[in-house]
Parts: sequence; structure tokens; C-alpha cells
Amino acid sequence: MNAQELLQEISAYCRETGLAESTFGRRAVNDGKLAARLRNGGRITTETLDRIRSFMQANRVPPDLRSSLLMRPNGLAARTPLLPRAVPSEASPQRHFRFFDNRQKYLLFVHTCSEKRVVAQRVALELAGISPRPPSLRVFDAGVGDGTVLARVMRAMHDRFPTMPSCVVGKEISLEDVRLTLQKMPDRFFEHPAQVLVLTNLAYADAPWLKARSPATEARIVWHELALSGNSAHRFEEQITGLEAFLAENWNAGIDPRTGNPAFERPVVLVIYREDHRFLLDSVIPRPGQGSANYDLVIASQPYRARAPLTFKARRVIAPLARALGPGGRLIAVHSYGHDPGQEIVQRVWPGDDPFVHDRHDILRAVKEELGPDGRDLVFNAFADNRALFRYDMHALPGELSETIGTSTLFAAWNAAVYVAQVEDERLAAVVADGRYLDATREVLQAQGGLWFHDESYVISRRRH
Ligand SMILES: C[S@@+](CC[C@H](N)C(=O)[O-])C[C@H]1O[C@@H](n2cnc3c(N)ncnc32)[C@H](O)[C@@H]1O
Repeated sequence: MNAQELLQEISAYCRETGLAESTFGRRAVNDGKLAARLRNGGRITTETLDRIRSFMQANRVPPDLRSSLLMRPNGLAARTPLLPRAVPSEASPQRHFRFFDNRQKYLLFVHTCSEKRVVAQRVALELAGISPRPPSLRVFDAGVGDGTVLARVMRAMHDRFPTMPSCVVGKEISLEDVRLTLQKMPDRFFEHPAQVLVLTNLAYADAPWLKARSPATEARIVWHELALSGNSAHRFEEQITGLEAFLAENWNAGIDPRTGNPAFERPVVLVIYREDHRFLLDSVIPRPGQGSANYDLVIASQPYRARAPLTFKARRVIAPLARALGPGGRLIAVHSYGHDPGQEIVQRVWPGDDPFVHDRHDILRAVKEELGPDGRDLVFNAFADNRALFRYDMHALPGELSETIGTSTLFAAWNAAVYVAQVEDERLAAVVADGRYLDATREVLQAQGGLWFHDESYVISRRRH
């Protein structure tokens, strides 16, 4: 193949994925000037050609995503190039792990294990420690996922504070998760009419304020209000479902070619409340540019990858959330802890594997350091193990785990174990080729009489003035 043909291939690939040619060169062969060199008659070795080819192969945009990547839902070509959708890359399997590869694993895990219920129970205990001030109780969920935790916490909140206006803000970048979360909300508006729900895809450092620090991003925010009419959960559901086209148009995300991290295509803030409570909620409904945080409760359930660097967890995730606490506010964070039969399954297959590299003490220390003087009226509560650690289980019917364990139970157990340990697809593909992973799963289930996991929690609270 000559240089011209290769260049054409690279240009077509870059158009398809939205990558700049320099980024392509850097990521494929660590040479940002690759395309320029080829254009100027430069030659490459067959080894470099092989690397370019395997990069394109490994990062192909699947055909079913390609049309949605290049076309708007209304059929018009995108005005600005869209970011490439997250496609697993051999070069950085961890990078794309959360966003794309593990969707089915997440949903299977949520429905086969009690974690999200147990986490919601733990979070709800914090409601006893807060004293909201007028005009409303304020809650921020730093990554709503499929909304199971948030919906349960809201039920507990509406039970404890039945007449208090409340504003719940949830951050979520994934369109599918936003849809799943919204599906769980109609009955919340029915039971608690004085409720404002806000969903946004803004970054951690912006989302609690519903305001972007970068003026360019702030100017691009798509701010959408839905005032629900009627007075039944069914009517609310119809109107929330009617958001589908708006979400499909605006709530798209991809991979930022500069950083490789998930990034929104457009910043969006979606505000939902009941029309018949607009007057009462006037000072509670957020307005563009207002920029107040002051939360009574911040929920950070599994907000970072276990293997992410400590500084990332502290600086990019937890510190901004701690800053967003109002007086007397409480941030509760939960992450996986290991030391359980789930980890035993994983270690039988990958001896020595341990993704749980930072515990709550490490994270609290790093957050404290990161905040410096800004953390002076915060209290960092690590608590003793018996309060901080908790257990959740895989659901199993009585007798199901005794003698012969059904295949679907084994699959669910394996899924939960590798999901919690955040094993990348590349590593999984290598071991599922034979049946040993199912043997390992069966042996652990039989030896332990079940499957359970440990989560670890910690709290950062702001003193009341
Ligand atoms: C946006 S976050 C969490 C969403 C929501 N807060 C929740 O707890 O379900 C979703 C990501 O968290 C991670 N995650 C969720 N539950 C986990 C668990 N029990 N153990 C390890 N990682 C988990 C996964 O990487 C997943 O893609």
C-alpha cells in the first residue's frame, strides 16, 4: 500500500470517529505528526503500519453506532463533529470500562444483588443527621446510575420530611441511565408534590452548582424545564416519557479525544416539577446562572473506579462534592471493599488480583489535603469498621445454592464478582473460553453457602455555623 492510500484510510477513520489526525497518530503509534509526515512523503516501517492497522481494528466504531454518531435523530447531519462513542480500546481497557462495556453487567448486577437497596438504607440513615433550612431540603446524587439508590432515598426522605419542599439534583452522563432514572420518578411527584428534580450531565466540579466554570460551556448549556400537569403518577409518567426525543437529541456523550475520558456532547440541565406547585416552589426551582450548591445531603455511591489514582478520586470527585455541602450538610460515599467471597472467585481465576487499592482512610486523608484551608469547617468521619463496612448478598432462592447450582445462578454470581472487581472485558475474554471460571464460581458458592460482598462507607460533614 502506498502512503496516499494509507492517508486516505486514516482520514476516513478520523472522520468516522471524530478524532483529530494528530490525536490519532499519538494514540496509534505515539506520533502526533504521523499524518503530516506521510503527506510530506515520509515513509513508515511495516511494523508501524501493523500498529496503525491494529489500532483502527481495535477501535472501530460498530456499524450500529456509526449512523447515530454521524446523524442527528432528526436525520440531519451533525453541525459540529460529534465525539466518537466509547469504543473499547486495547491501549486503554480501563479507561472505557465504566462507560460502555459494562452496561449489561451493571444492570444484571443491580437486579441480582441487594447492593443498591442496602446502599440506599445506609444513605437514608444520614437523613436523621441533617437539619434542612428554608426554603427547601437539598440533595445531590453524584452519579445516579439507573436511579435505584436515588428513588429509594427519595422515598425515605419523603417519609421523614413529608411536607418539606425539596430539590434533588442528580448528575448522570449516560442517556440510558437517565431514562431508567426518570422511569422511577412519576410516583415520587405524586406522593410528594413539593418536589423539584433536576438531572444534569455537567462535570463533578460544575454539576452541584448547575453552572459551568468555563464561560464557553456555560453559554452552551441546554436548560430545559418540564412543568408536569395533572394529578396522577400515570399522567406524570406520560409527560416524562415524552422527554424521549429531547433526551435523544441532547443527552449524547462520547470520548473526549484529548483526555480519553467520557464527555458530554452538550451540557444539559433538565428541571422537572409539578405545575400546580410552581408558586410554592418559586424559590426552590433553580434558574440558569444562579449557581448555588448548599446541599444537606450528597450521595456518592460507587462514584469512581476502584483502580483510579488516589489524587483523581480526591481532587476530581470527592473534594468538589465536599465543597458543595451547606452548613450541617453530610456527604456519604460508598465504594467496594473486597475481603469477601466475590473477591475469592476473582482471585481463583486471577491469583493476587486486588482492585481495592485505596480504603476510606486513604481517601479521606487525600481529600483533606486537597481541600487545605477550605476544609476547616468540615469533619472527616472514617468511623470504626463495624459502622463503616456493610455486607450485601446475591439474591438466591432457598436451597438454590446447595447441591447442583443452576447455570443462570452461576452466571449471575460470576457477573457480580467480575463487575464488582471491575475486570476489563479483555481480561474476561481470555478466561471465559473454557469452563474453569464457572467451576471456580461453583466451588466458592458451595464452600461459602452463598455469595456476598462488602462495601465501605465514609462521611464528610460540614459544621453548622
Ligand atoms: C455512575 S456509577 C454508580 C451509579 C449509582 N450511584 C449506583 O450506585 O448504582 C456506575 C458505575 O459505578 C461502578 N459500580 C457500581 N456499583 C458498583 C459496585 N458494587 N462495585 C464496583 N463498582 C460499581 C461501575 O463501574 C458503574 O459503571
